[in-house]
Formats: sequence, structure tokens, C-alpha cells
Amino acid sequence: MAVSGRDYVPARSDATDAVTVSATGTASADADVDLLVWGVGEDAVDAESGVISCEALKAFDASTGGVVQAMIDECEFKGKAGSSAFSRARAGKAKHVGVVGVGKKDASAAMMALGSTSAAQAQKLKCKTLGIKGSDGFENAVAAGAYLGATQDQRFKSKPEAKTLETVTLLDVTADVSEGKARAAGVQLTKELVAAPPNVVTPSGMAAVAMEIAQQHSDCMSVKILEKDECEKLGMGSFLGVSEASDEPPKFIHLTYKGSGSDLKKVAVVGKGLTFDSGGYNLKAGPGSMIEMMKFDMGGAGATLGAAKIIAQTKPTGVEAHFIIASCENMIGSRGLRPGDILTASNGKTIEVNNTDAEGRLTLADALVYADKTCGATAIVDCATLTGAIIVALGNDMAGLFSPKDEAAKRVEEAAKAAGEDLWRMPMPDSMWSIMKSEIADMKNTGSRGGGSITAALFLKQFVDESVEWSHVDLAGPVWDDKKGGATGYGAALFAAWVSSFSK
Ligand code: BES
Ligand code: MN
Ligand code: ZN
Repeated sequence: MAVSGRDYVPARSDATDAVTVSATGTASADADVDLLVWGVGEDAVDAESGVISCEALKAFDASTGGVVQAMIDECEFKGKAGSSAFSRARAGKAKHVGVVGVGKKDASAAMMALGSTSAAQAQKLKCKTLGIKGSDGFENAVAAGAYLGATQDQRFKSKPEAKTLETVTLLDVTADVSEGKARAAGVQLTKELVAAPPNVVTPSGMAAVAMEIAQQHSDCMSVKILEKDECEKLGMGSFLGVSEASDEPPKFIHLTYKGSGSDLKKVAVVGKGLTFDSGGYNLKAGPGSMIEMMKFDMGGAGATLGAAKIIAQTKPTGVEAHFIIASCENMIGSRGLRPGDILTASNGKTIEVNNTDAEGRLTLADALVYADKTCGATAIVDCATLTGAIIVALGNDMAGLFSPKDEAAKRVEEAAKAAGEDLWRMPMPDSMWSIMKSEIADMKNTGSRGGGSITAALFLKQFVDESVEWSHVDLAGPVWDDKKGGATGYGAALFAAWVSSFSK
């Protein structure tokens, strides 16, 4: 499909239609599949000798004439999470066999990887059918992984490769894996939004995806897109200041989920939705500025829509969830924001913009006020690719979590654990706020170089009432992983789990 200029291509969230995953009690001994994979824990292989110590795995090895032990020896496989070994040799009924390490069999992330590694390998070996043994207790995580691993993003290839994998069977277990399927659909949507180029996922493109979600799940979802003039009426000077230099119209996206039940708990997920961040007049210049990567600056918004997609399918009761995105581009133009401008946010607070590249917090300010005051959310989590500094602090594998309240932080930490996504709580001492004081306005938008992620979090705190259970997740690190093929889908499962934690 032609992609030139600004051409919106819908995210192809059919990931979960291309393949069927089921767990209906098929016995591994009878499994007639092209690829048979065992999820193997650290306790099943002797750490020193590498000899299989688990009886069931021993019996399986015997049935393959020793192919499994040979493969384990060759790859020095010890069952560690993240490790795997595959053989092209025919083994018993299966054309191919493999083992995937699941460590201590207690982490959602490792069990998802069992599914995704197996399904990706099945595609690579051009298999039609895949059987996975060892998902016990984690069927939905393994199923989610299998759906995701079976999917390759070929939207922008002129000659897409044919997919071969049709069915995945979780062996020796009976379980309803519809939650895993819902999770995969949401994570895949996030991945596709983040991976798509900035001439495709524009603010209008983001709004179109939100409208699509509302349309597909009209039983529980509704959507409102606020245009520029409506944002002006609400006094969103901070958000609109950022969008000013772009020809792309800003879109303020508000999706609402209403669960069944009465006396619904009102919560909100707020995502940073910069579909491109040039830095503005404080231009991202030179190597290391990563300007060519700034299509991922809507990673928070992508996670927000992915979470909405999951919630629309899993339908937690007793909660009303608002998904909010102030989406725009940060560009350069004669009408654009100047370094030194003063903006007024929708709560009346004034901001001296001493750096146009600290734009995410300016858009989030008005989105947070809206979540608090217009939606009446009593619990809010925002997520954003907010600072490069969080990558310096925590690296690329985990997000930074900020909250003034321990209970609020704990809830996010528990949701992250359930989703198999890593984060680390950071401090947010009030004493550091003095760095952000302005002589002429209520605050500046940028502090000094040190503690850049903390001052950013303290800035956001100015726009949420103290009574609200608020947390902020800076996901600039884990939004992207070149080793895993780019967009990770980070946050979709985490924020869906966070919303569900309020279910009654
Ligand atoms: N979108 C960036 C943050 C970012 C940078 C994410 C690199 C991932 C990789 C954000 O808008 C930004 O530019 N932040 C500035 C803040 C600074 C001007 C205070 C940053 O991190 O340099
Ligand atoms: Mn920026
Ligand atoms: Zn940005």
C-alpha cells in the first residue's frame, strides 16, 4: 500500500484472528503437531552436568530417541528464562522439537516468552501446527505470547511473507484462554501504533484508532474527540502551545469504558501522545538526540489505547475507566512555541517554557486536569516517554514509577508484576521543586540537568489534586527494543491490569 505524505493506515489489529490458540486437554503423548515445544524450568535439568533430571522430560527424551538431551547438550541449555534450543530432527510424531527455558516457572514474563518464542520459531520453520507443554497455571500468559509471537508486522512491506502457523495447542491442560487473547490484541495494537511511522500515526490517526475501538466495542465503550476550538474553550493553553507549529490538527482523545454494576469507581489512564517530537526550537540536533526515533513519543498513548482494547474485551465490573490522550506534534514554525513563552494551563497555572523540548509534560498537564476535574477520576495513572534521563537512570528494560503515595505506587507495582512488565519506583522529593521555580510565572517547564525525570514528575504533580491516587510511569526506556524487533507494546497489559485492580 502506498505510503506517501500523510496517509493514515489503520493499525491492523487482526493478530488474534490469524491463528487459533486452545487449551482443551489434548494429551502431549497424543499430540500430532509440526513443532512440539516443552517449557522447561531450571529444576528439570542438572545445573552442572546438563543431564535431564525431571522424569517426565526424561520419558519425552526417550520417546524421541535422545533428540531432546542432544539438543540440550549442544546449546548448554539449563532452563534459564530467555534461553531456548530447537532441533530440526524428526522426533516421535513431531517434525521438530524444542525446549524453552521458563526459569522458576513463577513469572508471567517468562511464561509469555514460552508462547512467543515457540510461535516465532514455528513460523520460522514454516509449521502449520504447534504444541506447547508446560503452561500449567499460566495458560493465559502463554496464549498471549503465542498470539504475539505468531504475528509479524508486515504492513509496510511491498511483498509480505506468507504466514504458515494456524493452530497452537496448549498440551495437558484445560483452560479458558480468552483473557490471553484479549491481552495479545491490546499489546499488538500498541506495538503497531508505536512502530508505524509519524506520517501515518498522526494525531488524526490516533483519534481514528480510538473511534474504531469505540465502534468495535460499542456495548461498553464510547468516544469523544475534542477539536482545537473545544480545547481552547476549556483553556488548554499548555497543550495547544505545543501543537501550535504543526499543520496537523491537535486531537484531544477521550475514550470511556463503563463496566456493569452500580456506584462505579472512576479511574483514568492518561497517555502522552506526541506523534512526533522534533524538540521544537530547542531542536533535537546531532547524534544521540534520537530525532529519527521520535515516532515512539506516543508510546504512552499507544499503551493507553492498547489497555482500552484489553478492557473492552475483559470487561471488569464496578469500574468506569477513562482513557485520555492530548495528541499533537512538536514541530518548528513561525507560529510555534518560542523558548521563553508563558502558557496558561486549564487549571489556571502559568508556565514559563524555558525549553520547547520538554513538551510532553505541557500536553500532560491539561490532560491530567481534564481527568481530574472533567472526568472526576479519583485514581489516575499517566504514562509517557517523558525523559531521556530515565534511560540514563534505569536503562532500556524497565520504566520509572513515580508517586507521592505508597498505596498508589504499590497498586501499579502489582499490576506490572501481573503483566510481566518491569518497573522501578523512583523518589520524588518536594525539596527538588525549587529547581522549577520561575521569577515571572508559577513555574518553569525544565529544571537543571540532574534528576531530570524527577523534576518532570514533580511538574506533573502540580496538575492533579492531592486527594487523587495518582502515579506517573516514565516508559521512555522499555517502549522500544532493537533486539526484540522495535516496538515492545510495553504498558498495554500493565495499565489494563491496573484498571482491573479496581474491579468490584
Ligand atoms: N520525548 C522526549 C524524551 C525522550 C528522549 C524519550 C529520548 C526517549 C529518548 C522528551 O520530550 C524530551 O525531549 N525530554 C527532554 C527533557 C529536557 C529538555 C528537560 C530530554 O529528556 O532531554
Ligand atoms: Mn521533547
Ligand atoms: Zn517528547
